[in-house]
Amino acid sequence: MIPPVYSPSADRYDGRMRYSRCGRSGVLLPEISLGFWHNFGSVDTLKNSLDMVHCAFDLGITHFDLANNYGPVYGSAEETFGAIMRKSLAPFRDELFISTKAGYDMWPGPYGNWGSRKYLMASLDQSLKRMSLDYVDLFYSHRFDPETPLEETLQALVDIVRRGKALYIGISRWPVKAAATAYAYLRDRDVPCLIYQGRYSLLDREADTSGVMSQASANGAGFIAFSPLAQGLLTDRYLNGIPSDSRMAKQRSLKHDALTPAMTKCLARLNDIAAGRSQTLSEMAIAWLLADSRITSVLIGASSEGQLLSNLKGVGSAPFSTEELSEIDAACAGAISAVDPARGTAK
Ligand SMILES: NC(=O)c1ccc[n+]([C@@H]2O[C@H](COP(=O)([O-])OP(=O)(O)OC[C@H]3O[C@@H](n4cnc5c(N)ncnc54)[C@H](OP(=O)(O)O)[C@@H]3O)[C@@H](O)[C@H]2O)c1
Repeated sequence: MIPPVYSPSADRYDGRMRYSRCGRSGVLLPEISLGFWHNFGSVDTLKNSLDMVHCAFDLGITHFDLANNYGPVYGSAEETFGAIMRKSLAPFRDELFISTKAGYDMWPGPYGNWGSRKYLMASLDQSLKRMSLDYVDLFYSHRFDPETPLEETLQALVDIVRRGKALYIGISRWPVKAAATAYAYLRDRDVPCLIYQGRYSLLDREADTSGVMSQASANGAGFIAFSPLAQGLLTDRYLNGIPSDSRMAKQRSLKHDALTPAMTKCLARLNDIAAGRSQTLSEMAIAWLLADSRITSVLIGASSEGQLLSNLKGVGSAPFSTEELSEIDAACAGAISAVDPARGTAK
């Protein structure tokens, strides 16, 4: 008999990873999910992508998040996922929760962007082919489209579920007012919004201050926090400059100017607070998010298995004292107003 290419760890559900209920739904999501925005494209090494996915699944990470245009080149992260499905993960399809999205630029011409029914339907069909899947577990409107009637976008999402191409629907980066319409529209059609995907971290609190997170909870939707490490700022990566193999060195979505003197000072202070808790900065940044009961899952990125392994230590860590929380807020205050490292560039 030919030995399997990959045998997942028998310990993958041994309790190291915890699973949270996603809003008022039957779905449990791992507290840490893995995103394919960076490091899974055709410019990256397939072996490293494969190793990270295997490592993640071995650790109990069952949720992988994609989008049509993740790469580069656009579509290639989904192709990488498809290759991994065919090579090793297909036998475990029912243990996986796979999401993809459409809403940003994907192909040229008037039908490859934003929120029309024409775009969303065609894009998901393309995504399914690239990922070698019959359906996705979750399909997102990747961003709110101020030009397309909301009802058109939302009805397309409902019909995608009715056609069996996605099991659940989510919205990402929708402003509060449009999100209110979305929750009501989808609920009235018995396809309730499963989850809201928004940027949220120690360094970007807008999803909280705008009311988006509480609104998701109030509407029975989960909340998944993307860029929880502020693209790597909230790790030890930039404590002593800019490493040559880092995301910032590549100057694509995280630019050098994010590392202002105020940010450098903030990161050093946060690192000291983390050390006082016997944690790394990334572990503390993840633990801080998981301490918020409105957050279903923390959607990290990674460029190596080592990063995944270390980030998992943020799960189940000691609660924060009131003093620690105040110190953290004080450390962040200067940097948050100085720069939002990802605004305008993240997708
Ligand atoms: N809905 C949306 O519009 C939207 C937008 C953005 C992202 N997302 C989703 O969110 C996911 C995560 O976003 P993100 O990649 O920005 O998340 P992130 O977790 O904030 O940043 C990930 C980066 O941080 C660094 N890193 C992670 N763990 C580390 C560790 N232990 N030590 C040192 N460095 C570490 C790595 O950078 P290096 O590469 O430098 O090693 C890694 O690529 C994406 O993949 C995507 O699925 C969604």
